[in-house]
Amino acid sequence: MIIQKSTAPRISEFDPENFSFGNMFTDHMVICEYEDGKWGEVKLMPYGPLPFTPAMMGVNYGQACFEGMKAYKDKDSQVFIFRPEKNFSRINKSASRLAMPEIPAEVFLEGLKALVDLDRDWIPYGEGNSLYIRPLIFATEEALKARISNKYMFAIVATPAKSYYSAPVSVKISDYYSRAANGGVGFAKAAGNYAASFYPTQLANEEGYEQIIWTDDSTHEYFEESGTMNVFVRINDTIYTPPTSEKILDGVTRDSFIQLANKRGIELKVEPISVKSVIEAHKNGTLKEIWGVGTAVVTTVFKAIGYQGEKLELPQLPLEESFALTLQKDLVDLQTNVAEDPFGWRV
Ligand code: COI
Repeated sequence: MIIQKSTAPRISEFDPENFSFGNMFTDHMVICEYEDGKWGEVKLMPYGPLPFTPAMMGVNYGQACFEGMKAYKDKDSQVFIFRPEKNFSRINKSASRLAMPEIPAEVFLEGLKALVDLDRDWIPYGEGNSLYIRPLIFATEEALKARISNKYMFAIVATPAKSYYSAPVSVKISDYYSRAANGGVGFAKAAGNYAASFYPTQLANEEGYEQIIWTDDSTHEYFEESGTMNVFVRINDTIYTPPTSEKILDGVTRDSFIQLANKRGIELKVEPISVKSVIEAHKNGTLKEIWGVGTAVVTTVFKAIGYQGEKLELPQLPLEESFALTLQKDLVDLQTNVAEDPFGWRV
């Protein structure tokens, strides 16, 4: 690995008491370039812009995918990364689907650990605080024929992230737009999946909803994901979440929630959730909670769902009664070394 340390660190400008997610990047970044059929040497270098041309294939044809992961600091300033091997295997699944070369484990994991170690002072301590880490791969060849690129860049940048608390949101159950289709790229963390979600989300915002519950593209009768997250529904004391598929992202937080619910003995069924069953449960008072999970916010609880022009309010349960908030606390306590880690998730 080539290590070039910043001669103008900006850490003194970082106020851990006052910052917002994703606007300020740590002093260093990792880059590694792919050319002539192989990945080159990993470079840990000062964070900053890189020279690219608008004729770069990644921005023209969208060969680009990314990951989202976090590092945490405990009270003794020990630093942990959460389940990094999951993100490593998923970025390679995304890359393969987009006809991009897979990243070797040593490039991904050694680059990641070196960056987190060097920029550890940027990790804010405190309940739910973390360093959000963004590994990405994109096509860099300067060419405009629509074909697979021959050149790529792998990069990792990192940004401090605040406490996991996010205010409850209203979501619209989509009856027209879809996030994914059979045979498509829904399971991949493809940059284009996010681009395609912005316009329908903007329309939902105009109707007073913060996010969308994405439904299947053929019937719109089944839940798939919500916003940029996996979705969970609680009816009575049973939690439901849709099975992963080629249309649903295999979320690391989703998997962690499932395992934590099992550990607590909460009944959780991984099975399709029909819109009809959710509306029915709302009518008969058995719909207790709906929430989304993802790395960035951990959990977003829903306060209302919009369906066919009607806004249905959801109960807002306190921590002691809420499965969403209880499992979120279990997860954050484990991530930040406040609780035991029987799963071996902290690295
Ligand atoms: C995550 O929660 O990890 C996400 O993918 C959200 C990100 C697009 C900010």
